[in-house]
Amino acid sequence: RPEPGKLVTVRMAPSSHKLHRDLPPTELWTYNGSYPGPTIEARTGQAIDIAWANALPTNHFLPVDHNICGAEADKPIVRAITHLHGAKVPRKDDGYPEDWYVPGKSRRHHYPNAQDAATLWYHDHAMGINRLNMYAGLMGLYLLRDEHELSLGLPSGDFELPLVIADRWLRQDGRLYYPDSGDAKAPWVPEVFGNLTLVNGAILPRADVKARRYRLRVLNAANGRFYHLRFKDGRPFQVIGSDQGLLAAPATMRSIFLAPGERADIVVDFASLRGGSAELMNDAVPLMRFAVGQGEAKDDSRVPDALREITRFTEASATKTRDMTMDEYSDCVATPMLMLLNGKRWHEPVTETVKLGSTEMWNLVNLTEDTHPIHLHLVRFQILDRRPYDVDEYLEKKTIRYVGPAQKPPAHEQGWKDVVQVYPGMVTRIIATFDGYEGRYAWHCHLAEHEANEMMRPFEVV
Ligand code: C2O
Ligand code: CU
Ligand code: CU
Repeated sequence: RPEPGKLVTVRMAPSSHKLHRDLPPTELWTYNGSYPGPTIEARTGQAIDIAWANALPTNHFLPVDHNICGAEADKPIVRAITHLHGAKVPRKDDGYPEDWYVPGKSRRHHYPNAQDAATLWYHDHAMGINRLNMYAGLMGLYLLRDEHELSLGLPSGDFELPLVIADRWLRQDGRLYYPDSGDAKAPWVPEVFGNLTLVNGAILPRADVKARRYRLRVLNAANGRFYHLRFKDGRPFQVIGSDQGLLAAPATMRSIFLAPGERADIVVDFASLRGGSAELMNDAVPLMRFAVGQGEAKDDSRVPDALREITRFTEASATKTRDMTMDEYSDCVATPMLMLLNGKRWHEPVTETVKLGSTEMWNLVNLTEDTHPIHLHLVRFQILDRRPYDVDEYLEKKTIRYVGPAQKPPAHEQGWKDVVQVYPGMVTRIIATFDGYEGRYAWHCHLAEHEANEMMRPFEVV
């Protein structure tokens, strides 16, 4: 809980962690020696300053191949820059991928916290290497609270639990394994999946809880895995918030599908389970156990029917509409395939110049066969709809012809977002007001391996 006006230093350094009782300790790269990094709590309207000190060694302990086609090959291997995901901050404080710095250096970021309460998170964003830095452990939560949210009476204090979920491949000797393609010239792999999942840095952890309501702040911090979360007994839970804070009203669900980078704010009630337990699952795989106490638990928390006022954008509020494509492309000898946005690589000149304060609709046109979790820096957005279209016709004529009805986002996606699942075969329309700050920011796929392989582009607010 950094005090406003006081500079807090957070140090990135290697540390050793016992992740599994049967395995030797694992070397991770962490913020302040903990994985996930320390949960930072801040208040809306109270700016804080953090110095992110890079105390990492000069060699990476994971295999390094930089960006595909060697765009980053002449750069120092170990470099870092911390991005506060979901925060509206000046460009110099954003953690722009090219603002990285080397071990021994530190960088001070100012966080105005001039935005609504939300489950934010921080992670490494250094150009060409952040998939390894994140995988090595450089991430943590940043909970922004505001008066309105605090007045609602939601479960709080001991009854609010952060759940940072991410998979890792652990070898028998306890070391972290990061896969490559087996082709020395093109070691990049399009997706990385682990052999086990860590929740808050532990395999299948157990939480001792009381027979009452809990608020779970869930973050999918994986490089590439999507999580289909549910309780083993099928118990319903209330989704009260998404990436950018509270929904207008709670949505009752029995499972939720989270892409890398997405957050879900959930309230679950263990009152009926006195002396028993609940299990959080990813499909059929248990992730975490909640052992529920015998005693009766006092619970004066509540989940109001109206959580927050959210005015939904209409498409008419956009003054500009852009088609933005997700493409796969192969041309380079060293590359099996490139993942591109708008057919362009990161280093090509900016093509999206957005007027400060204007509202734009982006048609996210997925020309690939994968779902891409697309994330925008600086702004929060709303999902208007998703709609099937003719992919081949688009490839040929660059025009969208819809072939089915538009689908409104489900209730839990009707709030403010900063990551959206862009399905194949569909155009996903999002709408945002680009206010706050001028400058060059990034938008990208949050599958870390896609992002590293060119699925990231700048946009410029002027
Ligand atoms: Cu969570 Cu550009 O990042
Ligand atoms: Cu971000
Ligand atoms: Cu992607």
